[in-house]
Amino acid sequence: NNHSRGYHERVVDHYNNPRNVGSFNKNDPNVGTGLVGAPACGDVMKLQIKVDEETGQVTDACFKTFGCGSAIASSSVASEWIKGKKIEHVISIKNSDIAKHLSLPPVKLHCSMLAEDAIKAAVKDYEVKKAKREQNSESAS
Ligand code: FES
Ligand code: FES
Repeated sequence: NNHSRGYHERVVDHYNNPRNVGSFNKNDPNVGTGLVGAPACGDVMKLQIKVDEETGQVTDACFKTFGCGSAIASSSVASEWIKGKKIEHVISIKNSDIAKHLSLPPVKLHCSMLAEDAIKAAVKDYEVKKAKREQNSESAS
């Protein structure tokens, strides 16, 4: 059945057909990269966003996760949820929402935490790059 081995069907679905697997060029000024690891298990997640500088909207997202099924499913869900959202909304996505959506058991909560951390890290990276550009253009003018 769909709940074999305790995994919710959505986990299995996202694990078997992960959405938005891939990479963007991290040097693209519109790209933010978040790379995070879970110390407990050593799993690693890279999540990237592409942001429209004018509107602050995430136009695209992708990820690569070297980790367990729940971490892959969490990053897949995260990549779907952040696409099309403004970055100020993206950062309010909570790991508990992802965990609930996937019905993750308590021992797998840190897998969804990885996704929340990766989103925040990607937004931060984008914003730091943007601030640097703005500083440079100010000092140039
Ligand atoms: Fe994909 Fe819900 S099943 S985001
Ligand atoms: Fe560590 Fe899932 S077991 S990320």
